[in-house]
Amino acid sequence: MVRKVLRFAAWSAGGLVTFALVAVVAGIIAFEHGVSQTYNVAGVDVVVPTDSATIVEGQRLYTIRGCADCHASDLGGKKVMDAGFLVGTFSGVNISGGEGSRTASFMPRDFDRAIRHGIGPDGMPLVIMPSKDYSGMSDEELGKIIAYITSQPQVSRTMPRPSMGPLMKTLYAFGKLDNLIHAEIVDHAKRAPRESPKDVAQLGKYIAETCTGCHMPDLAGGPIPGMPPEFPPAADIRPTGRMASYSPEAFAAMLKTGRTPEGKNINPEFMPWTAFSAMTSEEVDALYAYLAKKPAVASKQLNNSSTSSLDWHYSPEY
Ligand code: HEC
Ligand code: HEC
Repeated sequence: MVRKVLRFAAWSAGGLVTFALVAVVAGIIAFEHGVSQTYNVAGVDVVVPTDSATIVEGQRLYTIRGCADCHASDLGGKKVMDAGFLVGTFSGVNISGGEGSRTASFMPRDFDRAIRHGIGPDGMPLVIMPSKDYSGMSDEELGKIIAYITSQPQVSRTMPRPSMGPLMKTLYAFGKLDNLIHAEIVDHAKRAPRESPKDVAQLGKYIAETCTGCHMPDLAGGPIPGMPPEFPPAADIRPTGRMASYSPEAFAAMLKTGRTPEGKNINPEFMPWTAFSAMTSEEVDALYAYLAKKPAVASKQLNNSSTSSLDWHYSPEY
């Protein structure tokens, strides 16, 4: 009897190990297949202004879009996650054009391909780079961000490209991690708007795209795919969720100081409010109006508006 039980236990353990091995091998194969695809996306040579006001604005956009959180404020890149061999490690790579960077010879269309499509200069997909969140970025905003990137001093620093462990690859193979290779989830045929929205209603939805990578496209929050277990789930930021506790003032204060209405300090490593503190009050008002489904506090038409038409349409969709 004991022998039988032992034999059964050994058999089950063997089965589990075999299952785990098969899963890992499937993960590695699926991932290698994913990263070896070539994408034929032309990219747009957006206009890149060179005046100093644009460069200053480009730096602000680089900050509020969270680029600095991965590529560092000097553009030289930095280590973002080191979760060991099983999970993996990744850094934002050097995008300053200096030694250790691939961007020195980038044309605007190469930046477009990397930023809005998640595709590297060789046509191969980038790993982790959250291009889905940026795929709706306007040509105007992209041009300003490129203006900032290409006007800064070159930094020589070699940051390794992302290295995903067997656990990540396995999750990816089983469809639990579709934000690992954004080139797979971006609609490459969809043309991004030429200009950033000038109307409050459109601007709120436009900015909220920066939040959807963590808070999910429906803004309902939950565990952030690919993050280690000690990472808290993203809050539900629908009008019926956390937003119900926020007045416009409390929301603006949270984005500036990281303090919740109840006086809790939010850890910027989890929720990157330090990046959002560079938002203008118009942007914060528009974002609040969109998230809380409340009328914006600011005037309906923003003061920096131009008269050109937009090809971007506001459609509330919860
Ligand atoms: C969550 C971290 C993260 C954020 C946020 C992020 N990036 Fe990246 N980015 C990466 C990683 C990682 C790579 C390299 C991927 C690879 O080589 O497979 C990358 C690659 C790039 C590349 C291509 C570099 C090359 O060598 O091919 C450019 C350009 C770039 N990012 C610009 C930006 C800009 C601009 C923003 C903000 C709008 C941004 N990134 C936000 C992580 C990030
Ligand atoms: C890198 C991931 C990430 C991004 C990007 C992000 N958030 Fe969060 N956010 C989180 C996490 C994680 C939490 C939960 C933090 C906690 O529980 O300590 C959170 C919490 C919140 C909360 C609730 C705070 C409270 O009162 O407890 C609000 C509101 C919020 N985020 C708004 C936003 C908005 C607006 C954006 C976009 C402009 C955004 N977040 C972008 C990860 C993110």
